[in-house]
Amino acid sequence: MNSLKNLSVLFLSLEISFISIISSPSSSPSTTSTSPSPITYGTLSRVNSLNSKRKNQSKPTEGKPSSTSCEVWSKTCSEAVLALARQPETVTWLKSVRRRIHENPELAFEEVKTSELVRDELDRMGIEYRYPLAQTGIRAWIGTGGPPFVAVRADMDALPIQEAVEWEHKSKVAGKMHACGHDAHVAMLMGAAKILKSREHLLKGTVILLFQPAEEAGNGAKRMIGDGALEDVEAIFAVHVSHEHPTAIIGSRPGPLLAGCGFFRAVINGKMGHAGTPHHSVDPILAASAAVISLQGIVSREANPLDSQVVSVTTMDGGNDLDMIPDTVILGGTFRAFSNTSFNQLLQRIEEVIVEQASVFRCSATVDFFENQSTVYPPTVNDDHMYEHVRKVAIDLLGPANFRVVPPMMGAEDFSFYTQVVPAAFYYIGVRNETLGSTHTGHSPYFMIDEDVLPIGAATHATIAERYLIEHG
Ligand SMILES: *[C@@H]1O[C@H](CO)[C@@H](O)[C@H](O)[C@H]1NC(C)=O
Ligand SMILES: *[C@@H]1O[C@H](CO)[C@@H](O)[C@H](O)[C@H]1NC(C)=O
Ligand SMILES: *[C@@H]1O[C@H](CO)[C@@H](O)[C@H](O)[C@H]1NC(C)=O
Ligand SMILES: *[C@@H]1O[C@H](CO)[C@@H](O)[C@H](O)[C@H]1NC(C)=O
Ligand SMILES: [Zn+2]
Ligand SMILES: [Zn+2]
Repeated sequence: MNSLKNLSVLFLSLEISFISIISSPSSSPSTTSTSPSPITYGTLSRVNSLNSKRKNQSKPTEGKPSSTSCEVWSKTCSEAVLALARQPETVTWLKSVRRRIHENPELAFEEVKTSELVRDELDRMGIEYRYPLAQTGIRAWIGTGGPPFVAVRADMDALPIQEAVEWEHKSKVAGKMHACGHDAHVAMLMGAAKILKSREHLLKGTVILLFQPAEEAGNGAKRMIGDGALEDVEAIFAVHVSHEHPTAIIGSRPGPLLAGCGFFRAVINGKMGHAGTPHHSVDPILAASAAVISLQGIVSREANPLDSQVVSVTTMDGGNDLDMIPDTVILGGTFRAFSNTSFNQLLQRIEEVIVEQASVFRCSATVDFFENQSTVYPPTVNDDHMYEHVRKVAIDLLGPANFRVVPPMMGAEDFSFYTQVVPAAFYYIGVRNETLGSTHTGHSPYFMIDEDVLPIGAATHATIAERYLIEHG
């Protein structure tokens, strides 16, 4: 129970509890985006014919009526984007992308086929990209090629879980499953790519699409940044599906949204000896016990009670001999906080408390935070302005009843690495549908989504990006 192997198991529990504190959803289905909004088919066919004419990007303004230029965003613009997303052939394609990925789940840094599928579809749409970043990652772009640059990110990896849902497109790989909805994230970003490509003549800058490996393990986001994912980028957005909200409801909050998360494993060294003559030994069990008690004082005595933090000791191992004081005790656990400062303070104090408590009992201790194994996730903190942008886009696109302010959660997400570099906003989109049974938490073998979310997520991504460029040009 104290081996590093167990870390990956521990990790599975990270994102499980998304948004469980929210008051139960009461909005009526009729207010959700599944009801068709008035669509001006004139606008729709105009965009299509423009698109089919523009096999290359030579004449951006050709035949463009100024009333729908969307330089000032209007209801017509929102409706045009939604109409593109809801075209029956687009919806069919979105589902097929998601289902193909769902059937062939690939774990962190192994997203070879998933990445290939994304690149094939990008090629088909005539969208340029750079590959690989972080082994299987992709950085695609649409627009003028000039500033401003805004990024939208999707994660691609699956989980080591055996799918328990019996359906036509069940995972074909034993022991692997898209149980966190990253298949849907990829499909929604592909949908956004399609929409934005057909509106490329309207873009006032460049949209960067990031397809990222290894969110669940391995800090894919960090590697993507290292490989230049955020070059020129001045803001970034991403979505996560959520079983807590009815299909296509958007939720987010300004400031801290998801906790920073780290693990620690301390080795406390004493001196082995017979338990009947304790004075001949140096007892690491006593030192470890004192350390466990003292660790509880960090949050209860040192942290501001209004700044939520966690330190949990989850394992303690001194062997099995009932008659001997052991040489070594291994102590491990996890810690969480919502700000960089608090998170770093916890890390520092956990080490100090364990080392100092060990020394009180004449033991020595070392503490490993697994920074090399990429299991440290900083907090995900939404920039106030970027959050406001998401809120405004969601409300204009889907109506005020379909947006919710959500509480912060103790789960973690590696999108946090991007939020450390540029202003960012992370938001949820509901996939809960009681009729379909899409009510299970992420990382459950019964996890499933309502695929009606796909066009709405695609339209939301696309609008967030297009409006960002208009309003920050
Ligand atoms: C749930 O899914 C069913 C079947 O697709 C659909 O008829 C219904 O409108 C959905 N309900 C909501 C609230 O989206
Ligand atoms: C655009 O397409 C036209 C006609 O197919 C071609 O002559 C022209 O060279 C293309 N321009 C670019 C920049 O590819
Ligand atoms: C961990 O990373 C640091 C810095 O990158 C390096 O110096 C150290 O040798 C690594 N340790 C292990 C055990 O890989
Ligand atoms: C948070 O801390 C990390 C390392 O401790 C640092 O690299 C990063 O810049 C900090 N982020 C912010 C937003 O202060
Ligand atoms: Zn997950
Ligand atoms: Zn996830």
